Amino acid sequence: VHPPSFQMEGSSLDRENCRAKGGAPGFKVAILGAAGGIGQPLAMLMKMNPLVSLLHLYDVVNTPGVTADISHMDTGAVVRGFLGQPQLENALTGMDLVIIPAGIPRKPGMTRDDLFKINAGIVRTLCEGIAKCCPSAVVNLISNPVNSTVPIAAEVFKKAGTYDTKRLLGVTTLDVVRANTFVAEVLGIDPREVDVPVVGGHAGVTILPLLSQVKPPCTFTAEEFSNLTTRIQNGGTEVVEAKAGAGSATLSMAFAAAKFADACMRALRGDAGVVECAFVASQVTELPFFASKVRLGRSGVDEIFPLGPLSEFERVGLEKAKKELKESIHKGVSFIRNA
Ligand code: NAD
Ligand code: LMR
Repeated sequence: VHPPSFQMEGSSLDRENCRAKGGAPGFKVAILGAAGGIGQPLAMLMKMNPLVSLLHLYDVVNTPGVTADISHMDTGAVVRGFLGQPQLENALTGMDLVIIPAGIPRKPGMTRDDLFKINAGIVRTLCEGIAKCCPSAVVNLISNPVNSTVPIAAEVFKKAGTYDTKRLLGVTTLDVVRANTFVAEVLGIDPREVDVPVVGGHAGVTILPLLSQVKPPCTFTAEEFSNLTTRIQNGGTEVVEAKAGAGSATLSMAFAAAKFADACMRALRGDAGVVECAFVASQVTELPFFASKVRLGRSGVDEIFPLGPLSEFERVGLEKAKKELKESIHKGVSFIRNA
């Protein structure tokens, strides 16, 4: 028997039923780690998204306050809070989309891999819950190190017999958001007009922006190419250092996660031509996982696009990225297989 969730709106169940009867698209979305630095602003952005009909906020601390606060927003989504492991199953049951920003963030001097020890176990537990309670949900995994936590999630789902490669996506949108911003700065144009594919993974040299494929088409000097690549690869560290011990990117990450979740939901409801970069099971390279442009559809990842023509600088970067990625993927897989 699981303790009930706390619910913050009087007539919320009626409203959910009405919405379902009316046939309006409404997705049931859970955020795991909802009281954290990313979780709170992400919860707010998801409460603002008209595609969300039910929003479950789960964390091991502080969800009553966050849920009460968010639930006062006069938007359509019904909000329910869930606190602690005994409520995990109720938080997950019936969800269409599960977003996971649970886990510790970096402090200055740390790599994302330094988070593995703690976050690997957190991701395992949460994914075991997903396999049991909402095995068909699309999963957006944010917790670092993404290059290892996505393989961990895949192994948990395989063990449970629920693995669907199309429904497990590591969130690398922040790399694209940063790349668009930094490139727009150099070009002196609006970042909303820029589209930079970022492939590989989500840590250091595994973050590989394809500046030769920027839209609108443009050219960079060799120095700009190199400086932009370095800045995009170090974007996370730039924020970690600026926050000086108070955590890593939270607001830009919540923005990126909300953008990515919105793309997933638009695709799930049947919109055509939804293309995003994500870290997924892939045959684009010899590695079992790789971030690249993917087309999202009604069942998750519908198509994975090849990398396209690379510059010499990018080809060298790709080899470096693959070397590190291989080890991070292996570490994640071994964590579950050798457990
Ligand atoms: P935070 O410490 O502010 O919040 C994390 C939350 O997770 C906390 O509220 C904590 O209580 C919760 N949590 C811990 N164990 C949990 C469990 N077992 N179940 C549910 N919730 C649990 O950290 P943050 O700044 O929000 O960052 C969260 C994670 O996201 C970190 O690992 C960070 O490195 C990662 N991150 C990833 C990206 C990306 O681009 N993919 C970007 C930024 C941060
Ligand atoms: C980021 O890119 O901002 C995140 O991965 C957090 C971090 O540790 O840099």
